[in-house]
Amino acid sequence: MRAGSGKIRGPVTNDRPFPGSGSSAFRLRDGELWCEGIPVRELAARHGTPLHVYSATEILTRVRELRAAFGEAARICYAVKANPNLAILRLLAAEGVGFDVVSGGELARDAAAGVATSGVVFAGVAKSAAEIGAALDAGILAFNVESEHELPLLAAAARARGVVARLAVRVNPDLPVDTHRHTRTGGKDDKFGLDFGAAARVVAAVAREAALELVGFHVHLGSQVREPEPYLRAFTAVMAFFDALEPRPALRYYDLGGGFGIDYGDGRGRLDVARLAAALVPAITARGLVPILEPGRYLVADAGLLLTRVLGTKERPSHAFVLVDAAMTELIRPALYQASHGIVPVQDPERRPEGVWDVVGPVCESGDFLGKARALPRLAQGELLAVLATGAYGAAMASSYNSRPRAAEILVSGTTAQLVRRRERVEDLWAEELNP
Ligand code: LLP
Repeated sequence: MRAGSGKIRGPVTNDRPFPGSGSSAFRLRDGELWCEGIPVRELAARHGTPLHVYSATEILTRVRELRAAFGEAARICYAVKANPNLAILRLLAAEGVGFDVVSGGELARDAAAGVATSGVVFAGVAKSAAEIGAALDAGILAFNVESEHELPLLAAAARARGVVARLAVRVNPDLPVDTHRHTRTGGKDDKFGLDFGAAARVVAAVAREAALELVGFHVHLGSQVREPEPYLRAFTAVMAFFDALEPRPALRYYDLGGGFGIDYGDGRGRLDVARLAAALVPAITARGLVPILEPGRYLVADAGLLLTRVLGTKERPSHAFVLVDAAMTELIRPALYQASHGIVPVQDPERRPEGVWDVVGPVCESGDFLGKARALPRLAQGELLAVLATGAYGAAMASSYNSRPRAAEILVSGTTAQLVRRRERVEDLWAEELNP
């Protein structure tokens, strides 16, 4: 779709970043929200709501920002789980980005998108033999091994194919990060990674197995990390471990994981990637290693928003609700992590708030809310709201609970908007069900 086709828009008299958005691709123009060169109102009118809208330009800007910080030699492996839409995978692959996958399904998505699987790293706490086989067949860059039982599976699959499997050992250095309990992965109580004792056993076993080659170490401490220090501490701990190994294997990569935090509006800002890279990259390259990074959220979260329409309002003595057509089925982060996303009217967003509202969806769960206690103006039925920074772990974590078809997704680039996922049809919901 070419926005505005058939009608002439007047000149934009007033243009500035949309309040609350972490992306300059979302603009407040003539009093309403635009994504790049398109008023989002037009997208909602054409494709319905709830609707995920992504800015291609913002995604590419983030890639270039990471490249500038980490250098051309660093390998960026986008964490597919953040937003696995094939169009986004293709957009990133065209920029030379590789992928971090955690399942056979994500690997199959890469293949379906037609992107090179030679730049894929495969993490995952419990990979199946079938997934390991598929990844070997795809010729991926490396497995991130994080459970000891994987090693014989990987060796057998490699031997059977007459190939050598490249692997990094995912270490769990037991380092805390300041994030939600459910997005912490580098502590001793977490299921992820190998503690140093197990990591040493895996390194020794790899040395004895001709079908396996150790290429590096991997650490992922968690998500929504806003400070460089945990990454630096992890690298220091892993290198101290490495230096004590006897014999010391030759390595190629240090995979510092993802988890780069963004600003969801709490005022703490996003991770300063330039500061992180300035501190970490020289230390990695001084070891003769190439950095691998696995950003998910950082590349796509701010590039997306969720458009939803007001269905009505309900006022109780103690509480006022805005009832909207999006729900935990489109964005589960508030319910699952008590996450806070900006919620802003699409038209005239800066009008005076009138009251404090809970913004809730139609799903039959009291945990179904998009935002609590939000200062908002009185909203009209049919009015559009934008839920901000939903490009990561929004559509990716969607469900069809309450038999709600999954939302459509739009990728905008300049004045072009492409439908990159059609709205699920209600009959899709039972398409796999049988009536024997
Ligand atoms: N690498 C590994 C090994 C990971 O486990 C993850 C995320 C990433 C990279 C990417 O993390 P990111 O850069 O996107 O923070 N659903 C949660 C996030 C779970 C992330 C799981 N692993 C949320 O909505 O916040």
